[in-house]
Amino acid sequence: MGQQQSQIQWFPGHMAKTRRLIKESLPLVDIVAQLLDARIPQSSQNPELKSLIGSKPNIILLNKCDIADTVMTNKWIEYFASKGITAIPVDCKSSKGLNKIIPVAREILKDKIAAWERKGMGSRPIRIMVVGIPNVGKSTFINRIAKGNKAKVADKPGVTRGNQWFSMGKGGELLDTPGVLWPKFDDPMVGEKLAFTGAVKDTIIDTETLACRLLEYLAANYPQGIILRYKLDNISQMNGYALLQLIAKKRGMLISGGELDTERASVMVLDEFRAGLLGKITLDVPPGE
Ligand code: G4P
Repeated sequence: MGQQQSQIQWFPGHMAKTRRLIKESLPLVDIVAQLLDARIPQSSQNPELKSLIGSKPNIILLNKCDIADTVMTNKWIEYFASKGITAIPVDCKSSKGLNKIIPVAREILKDKIAAWERKGMGSRPIRIMVVGIPNVGKSTFINRIAKGNKAKVADKPGVTRGNQWFSMGKGGELLDTPGVLWPKFDDPMVGEKLAFTGAVKDTIIDTETLACRLLEYLAANYPQGIILRYKLDNISQMNGYALLQLIAKKRGMLISGGELDTERASVMVLDEFRAGLLGKITLDVPPGE
């Protein structure tokens, strides 16, 4: 799904439809879970989410924390807390952190739950909708959390519109339709980070340029990962293209005539970065850090 969804082109009509669908689903849920990529908690945000969800309580799930820099993830959690938003690090591949979502959401909704209890509806599960930009892990999240358990459909709002609910256990239910949001396109730095992580198509930026830019960032901020992975020595004076050539050489990537196949090396570097093979790396720094 990630690959397929990252091909989405957002046109004004498409965005209007998404806005409408999310607005229609909002009254059905108690809380919105915004899935962000822990490697780019800033760049993977949707520019309009705040105005879309209005006063609806929300929670941030920093997904892919298994391949993000743990120190930076903690700084992002502190940053969001300073804005009054609870963020939980999660790893949907291993399910790490997912068991914290319901208890944290229930804490956020405690006044509402107390009101339900007063009305004798204390056992009512809390209802959650998950939103996020393509490739952030929404379908993986839903597959993990729902484990195939469709909730009983009786007495559920939204059923008439074809919505289904998954039981999350521990008093939570998840709307099965994830809100697929668009990222911020206008900032070229954001676009580049979305391309590094694979959230937007490589073709938006030439693959070799992208790999060179990534290698420059890694050499400056996370040199150990590439030094270890590609068995490099002193890289301090090297620019991105020189690094790419060296990596192609180390991996024996040649085209006919003995020339280095930097195109193939670019694809490899980007794939290995995306798979977390170059270390636990975060590309966005919290404001004020
Ligand atoms: P989407 O619905 O939001 O578009 O995202 P999706 O779940 O399809 O996930 C996009 C990619 O991110 C998938 O990789 C998925 O495996 C990966 N992913 C999701 N959650 C995590 C996580 O917590 N940690 C890590 N490391 N990766 C995660 P893919 O390469 O597109 O597919 P696949 O080959 O893994 O199936």
